[in-house]
Amino acid sequence: MKEFFLNLGNLKLNTPLMLSSGTWGWGENLSKFLSLAEIKYSIGALVTKGVSLEPKEGNPPPRIAETPCGLINSIGLENPGIKEFKAKYLPPIKLYEIPVIVNLFGEKIEDFVGLAEELKEEVSGIELNISCPNVEKGGILFSDNPKLVKDLVREVRKIWNSFLAVKLSPVGPVFEVAKSCERAESDALVVANTYPALTVLSFKPLKILKGGLSGPAIKPLTLRLVWELSQRVGLPIIGCGGIITGKDALEYLICGAKAVQIGTANLINPKSVAEIMEELEKLLKTYGLSY
Ligand SMILES: Cc1cc2nc3c(=O)[nH]c(=O)nc-3n(C[C@H](O)[C@H](O)[C@H](O)COP(=O)(O)O)c2cc1C
Repeated sequence: MKEFFLNLGNLKLNTPLMLSSGTWGWGENLSKFLSLAEIKYSIGALVTKGVSLEPKEGNPPPRIAETPCGLINSIGLENPGIKEFKAKYLPPIKLYEIPVIVNLFGEKIEDFVGLAEELKEEVSGIELNISCPNVEKGGILFSDNPKLVKDLVREVRKIWNSFLAVKLSPVGPVFEVAKSCERAESDALVVANTYPALTVLSFKPLKILKGGLSGPAIKPLTLRLVWELSQRVGLPIIGCGGIITGKDALEYLICGAKAVQIGTANLINPKSVAEIMEELEKLLKTYGLSY
């Protein structure tokens, strides 16, 4: 393995694989399934579950449902709030000695700035989840308003010098939002979050579950977004959506992603990141490619 694989802003990755937000708990089980060597060899960065200023209870159950080739989740961004996160959850995650990127969300721009203030000097990077409503703009999603996203990234940038990525929603004015991130000096784009979806659960009475669709079902859609964005925007892209195998990861890299995030695969098989890395290395050799 190389000394390091990639510089994204001032973030150095040993491998192109990251664990995506919300799909590996708070890290409590990571070392139960993967040896320390496997963790170091396969994971370039850990992206935490979304954290807000105040604790959030999340949605009542049911919160997760399987669909053909995918998963719908409606967790509702449950988290302990930034203070408890820093005191209780962050220290053990940092022990892995892999870059930690904290996924942040808020109801207004000042929330994101406050969160970034709390994390100064604490972690390698932050990832702004813009698939959340802005209360000051009547509840419109940040991701639906390119100007709002530009203001958000600019304000956070004023106080945050380390790695800053924006996690795009796959729906809405995606290309305009990506351009806003570029103008506001984001270091990278994470493409993308889950797709708004709905399933009917076979409970009695039947129950509708609205949430975000992830897993293999979304891979062709997100892959196309990665490709199109890589043609139109100068920022490095971190692909995320339906990566289950090394071949899936390779497809993202071929389509313009500099790195990728693994999400739902962790819920199916907690060792998947190590298996994906092994397969990816073999495939790169087979096709005579390097990274
Ligand atoms: C159970 C679950 C919880 C998630 N929580 C978050 C979150 O807190 N913040 C966020 O930005 N994305 C969250 N995501 C989205 C994932 O990080 C990822 O972007 C998405 O699932 C697509 O990748 P995948 O198809 O590999 O799962 C969550 C996804 C799942 C399945």
